[in-house]
Amino acid sequence: MTTARGLEGVVATTSGISSIVDDVLTYRGYNIDDLADNASFEEVIYLLWYGKLPNAAELDELKKDLAENAEIPKQIIEQMKSYSVDKVHPMAALRTAVSTLGLFDEEADNLDQEANYRKAVRLQAKIPTIVAAFTRIRDGKEPVNPHGKLSFAANFLYMLTGKEPDNISEKAFNKALVLHADHELNASTFTGRVCVATLSDIYSGVTAAIGALKGPLHGGANERVMKMLHEIGEVDNIKPYLQKAFANKEKIMGFGHRVYKNGDPRAKHLREMSRQLTSITGESKWYEMSVKIEQMIQNEKGLLPNVDFFSASVYHSLGIKHDIFTPIFAISRVSGWLAHILEQYSNNRLIRPRADYVGKTNQTYVPIEER
Ligand code: ACO
Repeated sequence: MTTARGLEGVVATTSGISSIVDDVLTYRGYNIDDLADNASFEEVIYLLWYGKLPNAAELDELKKDLAENAEIPKQIIEQMKSYSVDKVHPMAALRTAVSTLGLFDEEADNLDQEANYRKAVRLQAKIPTIVAAFTRIRDGKEPVNPHGKLSFAANFLYMLTGKEPDNISEKAFNKALVLHADHELNASTFTGRVCVATLSDIYSGVTAAIGALKGPLHGGANERVMKMLHEIGEVDNIKPYLQKAFANKEKIMGFGHRVYKNGDPRAKHLREMSRQLTSITGESKWYEMSVKIEQMIQNEKGLLPNVDFFSASVYHSLGIKHDIFTPIFAISRVSGWLAHILEQYSNNRLIRPRADYVGKTNQTYVPIEER
């Protein structure tokens, strides 16, 4: 047996959802650049789940379904109110709430294709409501009910703040959602697929995926990027901060990628959004610092920013709290997880690799009193 540490280079499945070839990312054959500039997130959800862009009637129906399913059971709101909210990370709250959602869905264990699509809509619709509700509860505020007439992007910002967002914020947030929606067999998507490949249910698959996204080597990096920017504080502090980090062999969050070696195609969109939004908010400093950090890390380490680096200053500029950055990633990525879960069910085989055993051998049991 040969082992591939971290499964690097292993092709674990065929998939018709998204591809990364020569550092170009496509969803269902559409270049991410084209989608980021033109598509609504709702169109992207449809594209990922059904394999084609929707016509106007299909899009209206999806939007209607999402709006109708956006409310969450009041028991979940009560459950979230019962946490010692200042100690609970929003990703842990989201993971638990999604698992709990399954308890309220009578179809949870019905694996028929139609039932799975209905559950996909419910999960996609309710996850933003959970994230917004937990954020408000934590801030001592009452949750805001979903606004059925707003776009997916605008509705989330509305539920978070209680105010309808301006056009610039809505468009920026929509673009961020489109850019994060799917990414081939990333760690959380793989986790979700492994889970449902046992023929477990969709809620288990998405709960498992959220758990994987939470880690700092994956989706959890964006929150830590903003922490780093705050720790650095000023452009003049960048060099000593990074030199110390390099000397300590620390990983710089938001840099490097397992698959992209010449740059993450999503980063340029987020860089430009960061430039525009930070200049609107009068906090260009975050953009300028980010660009300087980018240059220095590229020069010193040959590493390029991934999707998480500039998304940090983008979300910060939209007035979003830093520990909500990763749950926001989940709001978008759940569309991809669900597409992959549906694809896994449609052509399922248990995912069960092997381990190369390197532990002790030929041990003989010793009774406890003799140990
Ligand atoms: N900062 C400093 N050094 C780095 C970084 C980084 N961000 N990323 C990779 N390296 C170095 C490693 O230290 C290692 O050096 P070595 O060979 O001298 O030991 C080499 O580059 C290879 O790194 P690995 O960690 O083995 O690469 P891998 O493909 O396993 O990891 C990962 C990819 C996890 C993204 C890594 O680059 C990393 O930890 N980045 C920081 C966290 C991050 O931004 N995660 C988000 C990724 S995008 C996403 O999931 C949405």
